[in-house]
Formats: sequence, C-alpha cells, structure tokens
Amino acid sequence: MKKYLVIGNPIKHSLSPKLHNHWIKKNNIDAVYDKKQLNENDIEDTILKVRNGEIDGINVTVPFKKSVIPYLDQLTPLANEAQSVNTIYKEKNKVVGHNTDVSGFELGLKRINYNVKNKKVFILGAGGVVSSIILALKKMGASKIILSNRTKEKAEDLKKIYSDLEIIDWGETPDFNVIINATSLGLKNDDEIKLDYTNMGSNKLFYDVIYNPRQTKFLSKAKQFGNQIENGKMMFVYQAHQAFTIWHKIMPEIDDETIKLLD
Ligand code: ATR
Repeated sequence: MKKYLVIGNPIKHSLSPKLHNHWIKKNNIDAVYDKKQLNENDIEDTILKVRNGEIDGINVTVPFKKSVIPYLDQLTPLANEAQSVNTIYKEKNKVVGHNTDVSGFELGLKRINYNVKNKKVFILGAGGVVSSIILALKKMGASKIILSNRTKEKAEDLKKIYSDLEIIDWGETPDFNVIINATSLGLKNDDEIKLDYTNMGSNKLFYDVIYNPRQTKFLSKAKQFGNQIENGKMMFVYQAHQAFTIWHKIMPEIDDETIKLLD
C-alpha cells in the first residue's frame, strides 16, 4: 500500500486527507493519505522516508513550505521560482519538490472567468502561500502587485524574490482592482480586517484564501458594498488535484460531491 502524508504545524484542521482519501477510494487505488504535525527538526527524517520508499509523497503546508527546500535533491522550476514547495515525490531516485499552489490559484480564478491581466492587485499578508499567489498573478499578467503585512520584514523578504513588488505599511490602502486576504484574520469569527469599504468603490474582486468559514467578514462586507467575492476553496481543490495527478498518474474528478466534502 502506498503512503502519502501532509505535514505542517498545526495540522489538525487540514482537509487534505479527506479530499485525497476520497479520490483514492473513487479510483480504487491501494493507498492511504495521513496528516502529521511536525517540528522543524523532524523535517529531515520525514523527507528521508521518501528517499527510502517508506513514504510515496508528501504535501507541505504552513510553516514548512520554504524550510523543506534544503532537504530536497531537486526543485521544479515553479517551486524554485516561488521558493515554496507544497508537493514532494521521488523521481529517478531524486526527491523532488514541486509547487501546485501557483496553478491552484490560477485555475481558481479561471473557473470564475476572472481575467487579472493589467489589473492592480493588493495582497494582505505574507504567510506561506503568498509567494505562490504572487507568481501566479505575475504569470497571468497583473500590472501591479502591492503587498502589506503587519510584520513588514516578512513583506521585505518577498521583495527579495519579486523585486517589482510594492510594499506599503499595514493599515494603508492603495488603489486596486483585486484585493486578496492572505492573512489568517477571518479564521475566527471575531477577527476582522480594518478596511474603509465606503471609500473603495465597488465592482472589485475580493478574494479570501480562507474558505472555512465560507464567507469571512472581509467577504460579506465586500459583497454588501457591491463587489464580487471568492474564497480559497477552489484553489485548495486544484492544488490537491494537481498533486494527486502527479503522484497517481490519474486525474481525479472534481464534481459537486468532491467540493461538498470541504463544507
Ligand atoms: P505563517 O506566517 O506561519 O506562514 P500563515 O497563516 O500563512 O502562517 O500567515 C499568517 C499571516 O496572517 C501573516 O501574514 C500574519 O502577519 P505577521 O507576519 O505579521 O504575523 C497575518 N496575521 C495573523 N494575525 C494577524 C493579525 N492579528 N493582524 C494582522 N495580521 C495578522
């Protein structure tokens, strides 16, 4: 039986096992997908298990998407460009780190027919998934990407990868067409991002990486003010879909049943 794993810290709330095990069952694959909470100093040993065949594939979530990199033999061009790995596998005896968050985000926007070309995008947050989102936005032709994070140093770290990124202070709001919440604010019901919705205009896209709750305050307020809203559920589904396809060489179906699993 093949073994797959998602690693992170915390990991309790990860829905990856639910999704992958659903597709494993649907496609009659002899495999199991587990979750494991790790500390930084467990990473090397865990990746060694991919090298020796004990584990067949790993998904990586926060806060390890960057810190796994030194233990891998090879990065795919996307993982290297984003300096972020969410999918690990062995190929020709090499442990390879890949990134399916970039295309996950791209496919999520394509699904709602949103064309980000020549649009100004404002990102809130600088956590684990942001470098993949920036790379996806650049690939799709966004004209400008502005980023703000409470801890400015983390925003500056991203500018080391993407030199044309514009950083502004936390609390400031620039002119934008698309705003993306990539902070963890909104996960809890009483969390709120302070934004002056009345002076932002309408008809903008408000995107929240959070999909549980399905509609954060960030999204529900944006909707009240006449904006389009989208949560991160399909990004999550598509990144998993790509990882599954790489590991099992089977493209699983994304149907209503699959999507409902995550509600
Ligand atoms: P990690 O930072 O470990 O990768 P994450 O959940 O991907 O984890 O990212 C959390 C994001 O939410 C960060 O951008 C964080 O800002 P800091 O870098 O300043 O910590 C942001 N965040 C979390 N709580 C916040 C709060 N109360 N106010 C503003 N930003 C917050």
